[in-house]
Amino acid sequence: MTTVDVNASTKYSVHIGKGLLPHAGEMISKVVSPCKAAIISDDKVAPLYAKTVRESLEKSGFSVVEYAFPNGEASKNISTFAQILEFLASSKLSRTDIVVALGGGVVGDMAGFCAACYLRGIRFVQIPTTILAACDSSVGGKTAVDLAAGKNLAGAFHQPSIVLCDTDTFKTLDKRQISCGYAEIIKYGIICDEKLFEKLSYDDNDIEDILSVCVSIKRDIVERDEKESGDRKLLNLGHTLGHAVEKHSNFSLTHGEAVAIGMVMIAKISEKLGVGQNITQRLLPILSKYSLPESYDISAGEIFDIATGDKKVDGSSITLVLPEEIGKCRLAKYSLSEFSKILSENI
Ligand code: GLY
Repeated sequence: MTTVDVNASTKYSVHIGKGLLPHAGEMISKVVSPCKAAIISDDKVAPLYAKTVRESLEKSGFSVVEYAFPNGEASKNISTFAQILEFLASSKLSRTDIVVALGGGVVGDMAGFCAACYLRGIRFVQIPTTILAACDSSVGGKTAVDLAAGKNLAGAFHQPSIVLCDTDTFKTLDKRQISCGYAEIIKYGIICDEKLFEKLSYDDNDIEDILSVCVSIKRDIVERDEKESGDRKLLNLGHTLGHAVEKHSNFSLTHGEAVAIGMVMIAKISEKLGVGQNITQRLLPILSKYSLPESYDISAGEIFDIATGDKKVDGSSITLVLPEEIGKCRLAKYSLSEFSKILSENI
């Protein structure tokens, strides 16, 4: 097992390794005294893993209630959010109780946001069961639900008390979910770790190693800029255009697929602007190795309209993450008219 300690406004540990779920109760009880625990999951993950987590929690003295909602991005909305809050209230969770998010990115974001709002904030635990959630969304405290206008538009920064990533849970992921996770891992390589990027072209990588590198990178960035006023924006590489593509596809593309397409778009833009060199030609083979798409049919105007409704716009400007080379990115602020021009000249 590898442990990465995060020293944000809440200090917590991210444990990554095999066989952690049966020990969830004892690991959680080291940071939260036994209390009532609400396991929030979805209808795909709960039948696979909720029983193991429940039994482990009960063995360590927690009393457990469970709620599972229909899996998928379509559930990540205010209505599911309200249903979970009502469930927490009817289960009589108090301020000293905990929410346990068991699942992928949608579950983690949703359950985390419920924990952030219920009784003005109770503690929560992240148990990511996808590669994407393990390498990115379960760490750093971003929680949210989608609004009709766009992804993650209502949310809060709320750090977990502990993150337990059991790599055995990846055995039940399908090929597309695995690829989706690798899109975010590739992102970390482009942002700041050429060695990680290179490693991804080999076949014999150990997922625990790769995840500890990603989580350590994220930890360093979150510790510098927890609320995303600066450096944390680097983690949005490929996301500004990717979110637009994801929404335009009506979520038929997975988040990782959309981020892959967004990374290719921004790499090409960066090269055309004279900032980036040699990115696209190194990126495309890695995307293909992980069965990730590289393009999508969307117009510059459509991207502009969706992207400017996203929370990444600050007043009348937008910050783009431009790759300079593999392992190095810069933040560049553009007025919305400059952004529109960049898109129409490059998409
Ligand atoms: N997923 C990007 C972030 O946590 O900042």
